[in-house]
Amino acid sequence: MLVAPSILSADFGNLDFDVKAICEGGCDFVHVDVMDGHFVPNLTIGPVVVEAVAKAATKPLDIHLMVENNTFFVDLFAPLKPEFISFHIEEEKHPHRLIQKIRGLGIRPALVLNPHTPPEAIEYLLGDIDMVLLMSVNPGFGGQSFIPTVIEKAKKLKSLIEIRNPKCLIEVDGGVNDKNVKELKAVGVDIVVAGSYVYKNSNGILSAIESLKC
Ligand code: DX5
Ligand code: ZN
Repeated sequence: MLVAPSILSADFGNLDFDVKAICEGGCDFVHVDVMDGHFVPNLTIGPVVVEAVAKAATKPLDIHLMVENNTFFVDLFAPLKPEFISFHIEEEKHPHRLIQKIRGLGIRPALVLNPHTPPEAIEYLLGDIDMVLLMSVNPGFGGQSFIPTVIEKAKKLKSLIEIRNPKCLIEVDGGVNDKNVKELKAVGVDIVVAGSYVYKNSNGILSAIESLKC
């Protein structure tokens, strides 16, 4: 299992330290939650802060857009050369066009599904993307409880991926911990995002990341 800690749960007064801590702690990606206060009822960070994150990080960035105007935000973050930019299918009229644009910028495109969105909604886009991010909470906040129906959804998605694009990765985001990660692994999930579990773990960041690598 690859691990992408979400810096949403980091101490923003010590961001440089907290980004280095997850990279030195063995994470695979640095997950960056971008919220615009419109698509979700929360507002986070823009390119000025993410530039500082990119400088501190020794692992690739995984940028998760939770915004209304996806194209505008792709243009803002592309110069930081993240590994992935993912955007919500629920908020994009022309997802195929935006996927091509992200790919053309040298970034790996990914699609995000909210808890209510079925995997079939993106069946005909699977051949064009490198990753699907399944939300296991409602987007907007860290520290929420894991929605268990994501397990069944990941299973369905995996069977579609095997037909359409076996190289496409599955990432799950929200309420992930050392217990549910095993179920996620069993249904074919490749990457987990974890915010509060990693940053607020009483055993420390290193041990938290280690415990997700099953
Ligand atoms: C929620 C974000 C998540 C969040 C995960 O909208 O996309 O990345 O930070 O936090 P935890 O792991 O605390 O649920
Ligand atoms: Zn996220």
